[in-house]
Amino acid sequence: MEKIVSLCKRRGFLYPGSDIYGGLAGTWDYGPLGVELKNNVKQLWWRMFVQERDDMCGLDAAILMNAEVWKASGHVEGFQDPLVECKKCKRRFRADQVGEKCPECGGNFGAVRQFNMMFRTQIGAVPEDESSIVYLRPETAGGIFVNFKNVVDSFHPKLPFGIAQIGKAFRNEIAPRDFIFRSREFEQMEIEYFIRPGEWNDEFELWRKQVWRWIDAAGIDMQKVTELQVPEADRAHYSKGTIDFEFDFPFGRKELYGLAYRTDFDLSAHSASSGVGLTITDEEGKEPVAPHVIEPSFGVDRTILAILASAYTEDDLGGETRTYLKFNKSIAPIKAAVFPLLKNKPELVAKAREIYMALKKQIPQIMWDDNGNIGKRYRRQDEIGTPSCITVDFQTLEDDTVTIRDRDSGAQERIPISEIAARVVA
Ligand code: GAP
Repeated sequence: MEKIVSLCKRRGFLYPGSDIYGGLAGTWDYGPLGVELKNNVKQLWWRMFVQERDDMCGLDAAILMNAEVWKASGHVEGFQDPLVECKKCKRRFRADQVGEKCPECGGNFGAVRQFNMMFRTQIGAVPEDESSIVYLRPETAGGIFVNFKNVVDSFHPKLPFGIAQIGKAFRNEIAPRDFIFRSREFEQMEIEYFIRPGEWNDEFELWRKQVWRWIDAAGIDMQKVTELQVPEADRAHYSKGTIDFEFDFPFGRKELYGLAYRTDFDLSAHSASSGVGLTITDEEGKEPVAPHVIEPSFGVDRTILAILASAYTEDDLGGETRTYLKFNKSIAPIKAAVFPLLKNKPELVAKAREIYMALKKQIPQIMWDDNGNIGKRYRRQDEIGTPSCITVDFQTLEDDTVTIRDRDSGAQERIPISEIAARVVA
């Protein structure tokens, strides 16, 4: 884990939030390569679950929502973790993550109390009172439920259909830890899939398979993922059935994704609370239906961590130990790097620059590197998971061919310039 964290910081994937001020617990900033990686993950997900299907549509709802949303959903009342405070050093812990004594100073704990994990803020320039309180959303799902009627009215979908959203969620975690695994500000990719009551078993099974399809497509090591049927006592207040997809992270087996059967809990609660009917009439002459919901929920940051943990590889290449990230091509933040063999030969640099600029128009995630010798450049690109390296040498000037080197095998091949783009994305 330490190796991954250090590589991420050194190479510009992830930095501690507010770093120069000593950080802010539970926050992380994505650096130049991290943001490319994250965007690739989100784009792949959006494409797979929204654009390639005809029963799904997308949404981007506001983070700040009317506080009534979270009262109706049960979060104001029930979205809490058990908290204990050490009587001696005053440090606070999640009661279910510590033993009898304080792990810091050995002191005794006070009584367990419930701590609501929603971040509260105030809206408008009014004195603080009950009516000015708003919450930063603790899950993106809320925005989907309150837009159910809008989407139905605009698009008249038939059941089953889903609404997907990618966006930030905030939780005032008592103990943020394990790098980006548990943070206070994170991103989710969520789907609320609306179904006919009574059809949940089959739909749940279809979504279970879709989660596995995603895990494979994202380049997460499937051998490290296991399903856990969450017992009733541990399920969220809205769920009648949950499978956690757990991943063997370097710090242990922990939840990566959740798949839940949320019944009609949310639509019914929002309908009762808002007074707006949240049903659908999708068959002429039939009674309106109050749909039930299957919810696959994917954490973006946990996806990134699982991808990094799956991709991190150390091997021996040409008698030297090297570290590389074995990203899938679709996920790799940089698809290819272009080098001139020698930095001080203007004709090589000009030719390499020309190839680089032309390639960048077709495949934007391309990098230029002319620092140090070729061996060092290869190592640097391996470490950030670049699948292909293109070298422009003296032969290029004669016959318009370049060498293309494969990250995983280290093998090099000569190919015409005209074939580079196809090879890079293949
Ligand atoms: N809408 C359902 C929901 O929010 P959840 O199990 O609480 O369910 C869903 O969260 C996913 O969001 C998790 O499986 C995880 O991937 C991600 N997640 C939850 N809390 C997180 C945190 N504090 N930091 C990073 N990711 C988190």
